[in-house]
Amino acid sequence: MSWWSKRRVTVTGGHGFLGRRVMAFLNEQAPAHLATFHSREYDLTHQTEVARMYHDQRPDVVIHLAARVGGIGANRNHPGSFFYQNAIMGIELIEQARQNGIEKFVQVGTVCAYPKFARVPFSEDALWDGYPEETNAPYGIAKKALLVQAQAYRAQYGFNAIYLLPTNLYGPGDNFDLESSHVIPALIRKCVEAGQQRLPSITVWGTGRPTREFLYVDDAARAIVLAAERYDRPDPVNVGSSDEISIRELVDRIVAATNYAGRVIWDGSKPDGQPRRKLNVERARQEFGFEAQVALADGLRRTVAWYLTDGLAAARHAA
Ligand SMILES: NC(=O)c1ccc[n+]([C@@H]2O[C@H](COP(=O)([O-])OP(=O)(O)OC[C@H]3O[C@@H](n4cnc5c(N)ncnc54)[C@H](OP(=O)(O)O)[C@@H]3O)[C@@H](O)[C@H]2O)c1
Repeated sequence: MSWWSKRRVTVTGGHGFLGRRVMAFLNEQAPAHLATFHSREYDLTHQTEVARMYHDQRPDVVIHLAARVGGIGANRNHPGSFFYQNAIMGIELIEQARQNGIEKFVQVGTVCAYPKFARVPFSEDALWDGYPEETNAPYGIAKKALLVQAQAYRAQYGFNAIYLLPTNLYGPGDNFDLESSHVIPALIRKCVEAGQQRLPSITVWGTGRPTREFLYVDDAARAIVLAAERYDRPDPVNVGSSDEISIRELVDRIVAATNYAGRVIWDGSKPDGQPRRKLNVERARQEFGFEAQVALADGLRRTVAWYLTDGLAAARHAA
């Protein structure tokens, strides 16, 4: 009998990039009941839909992944809806979870909540030391407000909500739509298409100088399942690899992994985003025994291989 076997579990956003992997890991744990849904079935930005979802699914544990997300471009184009939708979904889900006596609520936040110039590596205690990088502040702050809600509800109602802060994720099944994708899938797609069209160069946003930390999606999903089972405290917890890489180096690796033979042109007129990102990942190790397992080189190989087969096939099917 596992911790999960007596519990009914609902994952919001379970058909998304991270959600599909969380659902797969949870399936292995064989909970008493496991459910997810699309936004067209329950639109979580509406109070009445959240109520209907809780009434229908009766979960003991909620893992809240549903969100409006995207890279720098999508954040810049939709700051208002990114703020509103992410805030309102979390606020309603947590409030109604409390009213429904739900045993455990896992809120997934984001590294975008950290101050623009937080000391590197980012420690959870530095979360409130400054304003986030401007392009992703509406998204980051909407999510950070849910940490305050989770802590306040624990203090006032004894509600067991935990809060995780994943770094940038990547892997098979990621969003490769250039309008809304994050940096790794966007670069893979650019290189593959430029190679197919024999273009002499690709243009990449920014200077290449910022650094990022990436976590393979399966590692993130495993961390969430471990935390849901083992972690019951108010303090937020970073979920990452603590492996920092510059965007320039990342581009070199993706160019190599996709066998693109052309030149890379840097468009310095476009924003760089946050200058550096690297998480201190000690708390996750100590509190619920999580350590990343998939190295970036291996993860990139798997992601490119997936894109060249399943990703392109899905895009052809959708067209
Ligand atoms: N990807 C990253 O690099 C990253 C990094 C840090 C944290 N995170 C966090 O991880 C979580 C999952 O991200 P992801 O990359 O997997 O996103 P994703 O692929 O875009 O998936 C988001 C999911 O949210 C659902 N959703 C959106 N609006 C909804 C609504 N109004 N009602 C119900 N469901 C709604 C979508 O369902 P439909 O498809 O049915 O509309 C979709 O399945 C998010 O909370 C995000 O903030 C992601």
